[in-house]
Amino acid sequence: MLRGRAVTLRPVTDADVPALSAIRAAPEVRRWWRGGDDLAASVRADLADDALTVYAVEHDGRLVGAIQWYAETDPDYRHASLDVFLDPAVRGSGLGGDAIRTLVRHLVDEYGHHRFTIDPAAANTAAIRAYAKVGFRPVGIMRRYERGADGRWHDALLMDLLAEDLSG
Ligand SMILES: CC(C)(COP(=O)(O)OP(=O)(O)OC[C@H]1O[C@@H](n2cnc3c(N)ncnc32)[C@H](O)[C@@H]1OP(=O)(O)O)[C@@H](O)C(=O)NCCC(=O)NCCS
Repeated sequence: MLRGRAVTLRPVTDADVPALSAIRAAPEVRRWWRGGDDLAASVRADLADDALTVYAVEHDGRLVGAIQWYAETDPDYRHASLDVFLDPAVRGSGLGGDAIRTLVRHLVDEYGHHRFTIDPAAANTAAIRAYAKVGFRPVGIMRRYERGADGRWHDALLMDLLAEDLSG
């Protein structure tokens, strides 16, 4: 259990699958976080992925989203990659930043990670601003990085954060 200012991160369980699938189904989330037609299967696949650690994000005792990370295992390129989504009902109230800071602090303190990456769609300006507020900096555009619902390839922005850059 990791405690932030207003969020708590706890290990996700199978019982969270319906609620997380419902959040992922919201158009504001689905636009940026795809997963095929069966979102419950997509959430379950993330839970079953040994390389991935998924936390449920809770606020006021309620499940409001998830945050996950995986590590680059080559010791010479060691870093952790993050991803997060929140219920649109709580967007823009600082919970995303709170969840990221809380997880990053944990990964620095418990795992000794020194560098973090995140790769929002280049058009996802809200996420890019939220990540910049935490201390992430743009590295560069990854061209035609991910396929969108329209079947086309879209650019993403690679951002990175060093442990000492963490703000707030
Ligand atoms: C991206 C996300 C996790 C950010 O979490 P959040 O709690 O909404 O963000 P925060 O409130 O911590 O972020 C603060 C900053 O983000 C920006 N921001 C947040 N929501 C915004 C919105 N709807 N429109 C524009 N900017 C927004 C603002 O700059 C804000 O700072 P300000 O309030 O001082 O202006 C969340 O919005 C989300 O789940 N989005 C949908 C899924 C998604 O895009 N996931 C990321 C995939 S990489």
